[in-house]
Amino acid sequence: MIRVLGIETSCDETAASVVTLDGRSTPQILSNIVLSQIEEHAAFGGVVPEIAARAHVEALDGIIEAALADSGVDLADIDAIAATAGPGLVGGLIVGLMTAKAIAAAAKKPLIAINHLEGHALTARLTDGLDFPYLLLLVSGGHTQIVAVRGVGDYQRWATTIDDALGEAFDKTAKMLGLPYPGGPNVEKAAANGDAARFAFPRPMKGSVQPDFSFSGLKTAVRQAATAIAPLSDQDVADICASFQAAVADALGDRVARALTRFRQQFPDKAEPALVVAGGVAANRTIKATLQGLCEQAGFSFVAPPLNLCTDNAAMIAWAGIERLRAGISGENAADFVPRSRWPLDSVSAPMVGSGRRGAKA
Ligand code: KG4
Ligand code: ZN
Repeated sequence: MIRVLGIETSCDETAASVVTLDGRSTPQILSNIVLSQIEEHAAFGGVVPEIAARAHVEALDGIIEAALADSGVDLADIDAIAATAGPGLVGGLIVGLMTAKAIAAAAKKPLIAINHLEGHALTARLTDGLDFPYLLLLVSGGHTQIVAVRGVGDYQRWATTIDDALGEAFDKTAKMLGLPYPGGPNVEKAAANGDAARFAFPRPMKGSVQPDFSFSGLKTAVRQAATAIAPLSDQDVADICASFQAAVADALGDRVARALTRFRQQFPDKAEPALVVAGGVAANRTIKATLQGLCEQAGFSFVAPPLNLCTDNAAMIAWAGIERLRAGISGENAADFVPRSRWPLDSVSAPMVGSGRRGAKA
């Protein structure tokens, strides 16, 4: 039996969780506490690093206590502490990693430094018991990536954004149209009453051989359309949102279709290939339906873990700790590990200039 306490503080969620694996049965999430700071940041229309770090300091001790209490497991019976050590906002990372180091030292437990992206990448094995290799589409406020997940610690980034992350594009579009933060759910809600054919927005990168993403041109097109017809009626806002969402789904679908083809070529022996989605944007029904359709066409299964495990949480961090312990690659010197605001999953892929400018959310 392996029991791991996970801690996540890389952006605007303070989270702790206990996950167990007994070797014979499926893994179990014994507790999963997430405190969102959305209200603290809403007035600013985005995450403010200083506010986030302070909020983590205030909340983390209580969240960890609650996660242990909820799980019914004593700290003494925990096998290891797994904490997000990057990428993300460095203030929050310091709070989480230093707290984890202190608990590990006091309780004489090993500490495992986890890459937040690896948490997202391995979640489908916690929820759906997926076998390697599979394809991951991570679409959140800070990242837009396609990753071939080949094994624990073995990732190949096939695509990333060359400018804005997809969630960021939703948030900025919402802000331009006067919709509240976070923008994604509000753009989706407005789009439900809109005419997706009214504006012919660009489909960035559509047709390009590399499956990379770009969303800043689309954002500019939205701004120009909105300025041209201002002041905007509710119907105008709905039509812009619907047209924007259609452009996003179309562009994303084109990029993902390429990645599915490449996966087939690279892993011809994989009997039941799967596409997994992670990140807050995966909540969007239009995007989900597009991806589902592509997967059906290409003979992939489409795996969308429950939304609370798609967005930032500590169960995925605890689980990544279990995966690393099991694979014998938990890292020897985690007590000396320094938080990394940038930490690519795949150190081989060249860094993408201009990507993830906000650099905060993953
Ligand atoms: O994964 P997440 O909760 O946090 C991180 O970025 O780490 O993702 C949040 C992002 C925000 O940009 C939000 O606007 C977007 O996900 N989002 C959505 C929807 N729900 C959340 N985007 C489009 N449609 C949605 N329904
Ligand atoms: Zn994330």
